[in-house]
Amino acid sequence: MGSQFFITTAIDYTNAAPHIGHAYEKILADVIARYRRMKGDEVYFLSGVDQHGQKVQLAAQKAGVPPQQFATEVTEKFISLWKTLGIGYDEWAATSDPRHKEVVQKIEQALYEKGDLYKATHSGFYSVRQEQFLTDKERGPNGEFGPEWGQVIELEEENWYFKLARHRDWLLNLLDSRPDLVTPSFRQVELQNAVERLSGDLCISRPKSRLAWGIELPFDRDFVTYVWFDALINYISFAGYLKEEGSSFPDFEKFWPAVHVIGKDILIPAHGIYWLIMLKGAGFSDDQMPRLLVHGFINAVGGEKMSKSLGNVVDPAELSAKYGSAALRYVFMRDCATGQDLEFSEERLVQRYNSDLANGLGNLLNRTLNMSQRYRGGRLAKGSYEDALCSELRAVAGRTVSEYTLQMDNYQTHAALESVSALVSQADKLVEASAPWKLAKDPEQAGRLDSVLLHLAEAIRIAAILVGPVLPEASSAILAQLNVAGFVSLANCGWGFFADGHQLGAPSPVFPRIETDGTK
Ligand code: MSP
Repeated sequence: MGSQFFITTAIDYTNAAPHIGHAYEKILADVIARYRRMKGDEVYFLSGVDQHGQKVQLAAQKAGVPPQQFATEVTEKFISLWKTLGIGYDEWAATSDPRHKEVVQKIEQALYEKGDLYKATHSGFYSVRQEQFLTDKERGPNGEFGPEWGQVIELEEENWYFKLARHRDWLLNLLDSRPDLVTPSFRQVELQNAVERLSGDLCISRPKSRLAWGIELPFDRDFVTYVWFDALINYISFAGYLKEEGSSFPDFEKFWPAVHVIGKDILIPAHGIYWLIMLKGAGFSDDQMPRLLVHGFINAVGGEKMSKSLGNVVDPAELSAKYGSAALRYVFMRDCATGQDLEFSEERLVQRYNSDLANGLGNLLNRTLNMSQRYRGGRLAKGSYEDALCSELRAVAGRTVSEYTLQMDNYQTHAALESVSALVSQADKLVEASAPWKLAKDPEQAGRLDSVLLHLAEAIRIAAILVGPVLPEASSAILAQLNVAGFVSLANCGWGFFADGHQLGAPSPVFPRIETDGTK
């Protein structure tokens, strides 16, 4: 039996519809979760939405509906997309949930009583879009605040602050002692550099007079909680931290600490600084600090950011309707080296799906089952003579499983899938070199034909299990055609699973080719 594994994704803002980058992050986390389950680990996978804050309040005003209604409607779009894409999270974290509010307020009350919070007045430039005061550090080379800050206004305001800066040395020491806290390691270096420069404290409130859509501070009802301070707490509030008796949330200690899957834009300062220090403030020990898996961005071809204003946005729901969720899941996991950016295009998706799945694994399955049905009535037999390419295929399968496991343990899905493709290519080589259609014509080659067919079936079975976390439905369909549905576990990836006489099923296409007009 494996250990416990807790994986979370960043919670998505509900001020707009889901973006392709959100879809990538969710698929990555889902694949990791499914892989860990296949290894035998007990997994808790948390995903959700960030429903409070000024952006949602403004978007709701614009739409002419109350913020809760607006947030709920946008939330439904996320939930429906995750269903379409096969994202199997265990708990849904929506921050307007009263159970979450209660935990946020309990933490705030405790920090207040400990003297970790203070009230102060600040005046300066404020970005409405990013919901924060700006300093001169945020000015561009021309001395102006760039377009990323949206509307910038001058504001003087009294607010509550969390004593952040005094934990600077603790955080530096933590990063020194835990070099694997952030993946990839170059992001940990970036974080270290940012912590070196850490000075001010964190403003954790917004006056209700200006922003009503948030969680009230329990000790000062004129204020609501700053959206990041509220949102970050979702990682523990929906995992059973300080839960009420009878709650359906899991036993917190069983799963914590988590691995947070986040994009590169929200490592500094939100997760790498605010969140770790918030946990420290709430009494978490160094051993209880979560790990941060930081992924890159899905961009348009040429590395351009996808944005409405550039008119290059691709809608994940539309892509999935056109090509199927398997194609989207596969191209993301196969083409994006976790931690790096990916230049995404529909051409890339079609090309990858057709080459690896339609022409690769799908075609191998189809040919093998067809040949086995035609020459042997679908019955596998041990065979009496073995080609050198058979033993080579066995060796490649063994190496594939080790390489796949190593890469998946390091979240490198692209390299893991590359090794599965190498196994499929090796099996294709065996088909071409042994030419079973010729062997079938010569009764003296019967033992050799059996051996080839058995080797092909084993290789497909192993490949189907290994692609399972990325392509759960296709994997089940392949294993069902091989008549071994239900044996989906890394432990079953060893060679020699089929008994002499095992009956294979009939072939049915699992990966129909995508034509260039998008039809299958
Ligand atoms: N609400 C905050 C997160 C709070 S977590 C306590 C937020 N939301 S977001 O909707 O803007 O982004 C959600 C996640 O999607 C982030 O991890 C972000 O990095 C990721 N992505 C958004 N656009 C992206 C791409 N173009 N590519 C890949 N992921 C990116 O930040």
